[in-house]
This record gives sequence, C-alpha cells and structure tokens, in this order.
Amino acid sequence: MNDYLNIALPKGRLGDRVYARFAEAGFACPSILEPGRRLIFENEETGVRYFWAKPSDVAVYVERGAADIGVAGRDILLEYTPDLYELLDLGIGQCRMAVAAKNDFRDPTERTLRVATKFPHIASQYYASLSRDIEIIHLNGSIEIAPILGLSDVIVDIVETGTTLRENNLKVFAEILPISARLIANKASFKFKNEAIEKLLSSLLQMLDKE
Ligand code: PRP
Repeated sequence: MNDYLNIALPKGRLGDRVYARFAEAGFACPSILEPGRRLIFENEETGVRYFWAKPSDVAVYVERGAADIGVAGRDILLEYTPDLYELLDLGIGQCRMAVAAKNDFRDPTERTLRVATKFPHIASQYYASLSRDIEIIHLNGSIEIAPILGLSDVIVDIVETGTTLRENNLKVFAEILPISARLIANKASFKFKNEAIEKLLSSLLQMLDKE
C-alpha cells in the first residue's frame, strides 16, 4: 500500500494491551491514545499506521494484504484457517475453547447432540474426533443463553474467567483448546517489509524473554 507498516489491531481490551507492547517495541503512535472514535492512526516518525478492526476480522485484513501484520486469537485462526504467517504467540488474551452446558447436563447419546457456537469449524472437528453426531446451531454472540432456552444441548465457546458460565448456571464439561493472541503477517508483506516486521518481532521476543 506504501511504506507504512499497516497494523490491524483487535478493537477492545486485548488491542489496547497489544498496542502498549508494540509502542514499547519502538512502534509508537501516540494519536491512537487520544479519546474519540477515529479508527485509523499514523505516525510518520515510526512509520506505522494502526487501525482498529473487529477482532474476528483482523485475519481477513492481513490475509488480503490490507494490513501487513495484525493480532488475532488462535480461535479465529483455527476457525477460518486464513492463508498467512503466524509469527509469535504473544502470551496474552489467554482463555480456552470449551464445551459447556447446564449443570445437570447428560449427553443424550441416543440422538444427535445440538451444539450452539460461534465456531462451527472448531466444534465440528472436535466432535468428529469423538465420532459424535452433532447438529451445529451457528450463533453470533451471547451463546450462553442457547442451552438455557433449550435451543441447544451444549455450547462450544470461549471461557476466560468463567464468570459468564457461572452467572448463568452453566459449567465446563470438556476443554478443547488453549487460546492466546498471535502475531500474524501477510505473506507478501513478510517478504517486502521484512526489516520492519523482523524488528518488531525481535523486540517482542526480547520482551517475552524478560517476563
Ligand atoms: C466471550 C465468550 C463468553 C465470554 C467468556 O464473549 O463468548 O461469552 O466472553 O468470558 P468469561 O469466561 O470471562 O465470562 P464476548 O464478550 O466476546 O461476547 P459475545 O457474547 O458477543 O460473544
């Protein structure tokens, strides 16, 4: 797109933490910290252009080269399998993908299991590995209400603190995968903007070593 290093950040708390690390690694862009609703920020001095994307869209920007690099959860990378490089596990945004259901859930083995999820691919793979027949009910959020209302038997969703499950009288029945935030790069950008990307990568690695 130009000489700027274009960086897609997941909007929200994770993105704020990621920006703080990138700034510490020498890729600061102070205007991003100003209050307001702007979504794109540039800093000529450090040569970066950041933009806030919906977390589940970051990999789309990176795969298509609209962003050179970005940060996405392992959940998104496994669900959509974008064609890009995964460079580093940033060790933040840690949570797990799990099967959860009402406290008194028993698997109705005589019939197909109804699974509500934002992650149909991950859920299908998991149940295929168990040879369990399922029907996917694809939802986009507030997955926890599905078993409560009888829409599904179980959910496959992200559990971080476990508070949402607890407060809705649900519990984890199986853990599928540990999740954390990953630094990802567009394949062509990794080649053509290699110097800047490697600089960021090595600074981030040094920071991880010190932790
Ligand atoms: C995620 C996830 C759970 C919740 C888990 O939802 O889908 O609902 O966070 O966090 P906890 O274990 O700390 O309670 P998100 O906030 O992304 O909203 P969503 O319902 O729109 O998916």
